[in-house]
Amino acid sequence: MWMRLRALAAEAMRCAYAPYSRFRVGAAALVDDGRFVSGCNVENAGYGVTLCAECGLVSELVRTGGGRLVAFVCVDGDGRPCSPCGRCRQVLSEHAHPDMLLAMPSGLMTIDQVLPDRFTSADIDRVTATPAQTAGGDRQ
Ligand code: THU
Repeated sequence: MWMRLRALAAEAMRCAYAPYSRFRVGAAALVDDGRFVSGCNVENAGYGVTLCAECGLVSELVRTGGGRLVAFVCVDGDGRPCSPCGRCRQVLSEHAHPDMLLAMPSGLMTIDQVLPDRFTSADIDRVTATPAQTAGGDRQ
């Protein structure tokens, strides 16, 4: 499964639009219903509006039916695992299975290890009257 994810991430990476940083990223994940989703980074002349590979992956996840992410990897231009940025850890967290594993450069880690004490809908529900209608993948 990890080999397949690495291959899918590398395939996505080759589609990256990264004319500014020249740093191509591809991301791939297994969903809890057996689907695979992927994405690549898409840069912009307005550097701050660049879309990370994880954004494309999560967009495909939601567009193709949602679900929880159970395994994830992103790779650099050499096809080696790279570390998801802080913002993308939060983006992934929203759709993560509680036992989700991420293939980090240092090895496999859980979503809670890469984003300890992560902010979730539970934090919002604690202070609002109506619970958020989430996919349920972000409960701790
Ligand atoms: N990048 C990603 O796509 N995902 C990450 O988690 C880290 C950074 C992209 C954004 C930008 O296009 C390039 O890598 C250099 O920062």
